[in-house]
Amino acid sequence: MVKKICSFQWIVALGFLLLAATSVSSKNHGNQANDLVDVINKNRTAKKLPQLNNSPGLGCIALQYIKECRANCSENNTVNCKPPENDFTEIFAPNCGVELPTFGTISGLIVGCQQKHLDPPEAFSRVLIHNNRTLSVIHNKTHTEVGVGIVHAKSHKGPYLWCALFGSNKKNSTFVLEDLGKGIEQKEGCYSGNGVSCSSGGRNGHFVFAINCVWTLVFCFLVLIRTGFF
Ligand SMILES: *[C@@H]1O[C@H](CO)[C@@H](O)[C@H](O)[C@H]1NC(C)=O
Ligand SMILES: *[C@@H]1O[C@H](CO)[C@@H](O)[C@H](O)[C@H]1NC(C)=O
Ligand SMILES: *[C@@H]1O[C@H](CO)[C@@H](O)[C@H](O)[C@H]1NC(C)=O
Ligand SMILES: *[C@@H]1O[C@H](CO)[C@@H](O)[C@H](O)[C@H]1NC(C)=O
Ligand SMILES: *[C@@H]1O[C@H](CO)[C@@H](O)[C@H](O)[C@H]1NC(C)=O
Ligand SMILES: *[C@@H]1O[C@H](CO)[C@@H](O)[C@H](O)[C@H]1NC(C)=O
Repeated sequence: MVKKICSFQWIVALGFLLLAATSVSSKNHGNQANDLVDVINKNRTAKKLPQLNNSPGLGCIALQYIKECRANCSENNTVNCKPPENDFTEIFAPNCGVELPTFGTISGLIVGCQQKHLDPPEAFSRVLIHNNRTLSVIHNKTHTEVGVGIVHAKSHKGPYLWCALFGSNKKNSTFVLEDLGKGIEQKEGCYSGNGVSCSSGGRNGHFVFAINCVWTLVFCFLVLIRTGFF
């Protein structure tokens, strides 16, 4: 009897350990849009250019922009898409909860797509830098802030699309999100400037979530067997 209780406690301890381990690993996935902003800033500071402020309002607008273009990723990984200028203030900003009077100047835009998922440093060199023209957008001295959005072409499948928007406004006074900076929750994709953990389009997030569920089920199953439920 004593032996049985010991091994039961051992299983409970192991179960908690596994759950703790998987929740830590899911945290480490972080937010790839934020990681891409870090790569952009590293590339700028190496050129002695000032860092750009990571603006959640601008990031969410970048996500809206690329969502409108999600069907337009071509075979050669270029995005052939030109949303009307008015959509920025009439659709994108309201969808994010950006306070309209704080809508500022957008001084640069880069979009790109790839058939497969890329980690942030690869996305930087292969998607954001197509040629010298986009590199000069990243190195432009006028910018003060940046926002990045990433989304899947279809929900959970198809090519990945990236969008980086640059602004040239006084820090923190433009693209302000309502509700004390929370804005409107986005159900899909990923954008920079917030603490929300996400992966581009959700692949890694869903994988970790599935692994978590499997471990929880196995753990519950073992507990039920040990307590003589079956
Ligand atoms: C990519 O494809 C589009 C149409 O699918 C074409 O207009 C464009 O010229 C192509 N770009 C390059 C660099 O091949
Ligand atoms: C996406 O591509 C389609 C077909 O080429 C075109 O009709 C549409 O206007 C494009 N979307 C945008 C937002 O430019
Ligand atoms: C930097 O961006 C501003 C605003 O878009 C533009 O007017 C200017 O020509 C750009 N400068 C360079 C060197 O590309
Ligand atoms: C910045 O990025 C460009 C394009 O990927 C690369 O060629 C260059 O070496 C990078 N600069 C630094 C200092 O990392
Ligand atoms: C791109 O820029 C690099 C360095 O700034 C230069 O050596 C190269 O010739 C440029 N390429 C084109 C196609 O302009
Ligand atoms: C802007 O906001 C960031 C983060 O909230 C903060 O670290 C920074 O000091 C602010 N900058 C200014 C100029 O207020």
